[in-house]
Amino acid sequence: MTPHNEAKVGDIAPNILLPGDPLRAKFIAENYLENVVQYNTVRGMLGFTGTYKGVPVSVQGTGMGIPSISIYVNELITTYGCKNLIRVGSAGAVHEDIHVRDIVLGTAASTTSGVNKDRFNGKDYAAVADFDLALAAHLAAEKLGYTLHKGPVLSSDLFYDDDPKFYEKWAKYGILGVEMEAAGLYTLALKYRVRALTLVTISDHIVTGESTTPEERQNTFTQMMEVALEALAS
Ligand code: ADE
Repeated sequence: MTPHNEAKVGDIAPNILLPGDPLRAKFIAENYLENVVQYNTVRGMLGFTGTYKGVPVSVQGTGMGIPSISIYVNELITTYGCKNLIRVGSAGAVHEDIHVRDIVLGTAASTTSGVNKDRFNGKDYAAVADFDLALAAHLAAEKLGYTLHKGPVLSSDLFYDDDPKFYEKWAKYGILGVEMEAAGLYTLALKYRVRALTLVTISDHIVTGESTTPEERQNTFTQMMEVALEALAS
């Protein structure tokens, strides 16, 4: 038990999916896992454990932003022994080659957050995905016949930014999309020597204003979940 999670040690699987939205965690557990048990309700941040093709898999809501995901991931790794962590979320595209409904694998995460500036006395830290987990996702997508875009993302502290033009510069330097958690997840996974990956579906295009319907989003979400689960089970 931790301040934010009432699960007992052993209740949470080493393989875990991390959506930001706790109701998304419930949806994933109900639709993709078998033999599901709910292990957490603290703060409404629902967590479940079940199996996927016989492999134990948990799914835990993390909330939005680096501070929130950092609390859950810290406890999942240090108290519950999670080893393979895949964030499954959404992002706004900024790059001209990325469009709504695309799936992006975040190979690295730059950030506007101050957390790593604080940690490293103002110096930069390169928060990167785990190569083996990224390779497993790449192979799973290839097998399923889904296109997976691979490249760096930006973990922003602001969802409602005053200046969308700010993101054009990031795109010029190769950033594919903007989300709010990957840099926190990758930093902690590297610190604790476990594996982490971020998969996101593109819900909007911050520069062009392109957007998608909830129905179309659901279809891409399904493809992303198949990639994430196959990567964990491989
Ligand atoms: N997730 C989805 N769209 C986003 C955006 N525009 N900014 C940050 N995170 C997002």
